[in-house]
Amino acid sequence: MWGGRYAQGPAAIMEAINASIGFDRKLYRQDIAASKAHCAMLVQQKIIAAKDGAAIAKGLDVILAEIDGGRFEFSTALEDIHMNVEARLAERIGEAAGRLHTARSRNDQVATDFRLWVRDALDRSEVQLQALQAALIARAEEYADTVMPGFTHLQTAQPVTFGHHLLAYVEMFGRDRSRLADCRQRMNENPLGAAALAGTPYAIDRHMTAKALAFDRPMENSLDAVSDRDFALEFMSAAAICGVHLSRLAEEIVLWCSAPFRFVALSDAFTTGSSIMPQKRNPDAAELVRAKSGRLFGTLMSLLTVMKGLPLTYSKDMQEDKEPTFEAAETLELALAAMTGMVLDLTADAKRMREVAGADYSTATDLADWLVRELGLPFRKAHHVTGKLVSLAAERKVPLTDLPLAQMQQVEPGITKAVFKALTVEASVNARRSYGGTAPANVRSAVGRARKRFLRG
Ligand code: ARG
Repeated sequence: MWGGRYAQGPAAIMEAINASIGFDRKLYRQDIAASKAHCAMLVQQKIIAAKDGAAIAKGLDVILAEIDGGRFEFSTALEDIHMNVEARLAERIGEAAGRLHTARSRNDQVATDFRLWVRDALDRSEVQLQALQAALIARAEEYADTVMPGFTHLQTAQPVTFGHHLLAYVEMFGRDRSRLADCRQRMNENPLGAAALAGTPYAIDRHMTAKALAFDRPMENSLDAVSDRDFALEFMSAAAICGVHLSRLAEEIVLWCSAPFRFVALSDAFTTGSSIMPQKRNPDAAELVRAKSGRLFGTLMSLLTVMKGLPLTYSKDMQEDKEPTFEAAETLELALAAMTGMVLDLTADAKRMREVAGADYSTATDLADWLVRELGLPFRKAHHVTGKLVSLAAERKVPLTDLPLAQMQQVEPGITKAVFKALTVEASVNARRSYGGTAPANVRSAVGRARKRFLRG
């Protein structure tokens, strides 16, 4: 009925849909660590004999080495990582292996393994985000004085410094880090000992296993312990938000590398050529980081949908928690590494950026501010006068700095030649020294603070 591939009929299909070993083998370290903690606790509580405990612990160490060394044969018939390890343990040490599963169920076992795995993923991403921030901070310092156009609506707004622009992302990635840290703190509780769902009649010590696995405490409620996967959802939402930040920076790199912008260039290390157009240098890595965010959103949506409406406690649906979570971690790690590489690789074309920064009347606001400061005009009036001057200059197709003083004075008699000094892009950025502003001096002090806040001194 199912065709040649499924000669054994429905049973084979059952195995195919049921087995998770194809992906949950990734949990082997966590599974063995949790089993060792559980075993030591069973011995201490005199639930199993010390001799059996020692054989189990030794057997688990050997299995860990086998898997690490690629010498372990995973079996689909044994369904998942938990049963694969336990069956191998029985092969090696015999009957004692059967005592490991006392006061435990695969339900609290998988919840424990998976928490440990997500915790490791959080820690890896945290380290990578810090490295990305370090790269951005170093480049920001280097480009503290480099002016570029700042945009709103992707229209030239006011000149800013490239260093300031890069530091904007340092803040975003800092919040991403704090989301991961927050998630880690909330998830760091021990599900082990909840057993199938109701707890266990054995006199177990959940505090002991919590401590051994570096959890802060046992989870309070056994039903909750085997039921929820909110920690994975939180990880994926933090990853998705980080993906948004990465995609925005990636998009800017793509734009900046394009010929009409030509603000930055990436080296051969982060571009590819075209097989037909010899002049091309395509920013593929940036494009892919931009695209990978879609994958991150997808993983979150997928697990949200799996979990919604599930009655307590464990349902097999929850086996579908792992692939999206693994994918999110892998995708995030790759995207963070690629972005860090690009940030370190790029070179800015300061001359070109300055040229564009000064175009399109980008210092018109500085003219209005000068009228307020020097002539005491109300800002609304100054805005109006400036608008007239800009349209005069636009009619003549010249920048504001090339508008003759006499012409300016026809619009506003109080204007003196001192105004021209306020209209350069350098004057414009230097003037913006309000806290959090773009002035080079601000960028330098912000770099110092960012190092203290994010890079530990
Ligand atoms: N492979 C299963 C999972 O990942 C382990 C838990 C199985 N529990 C059960 N009652 N069948 O969810």
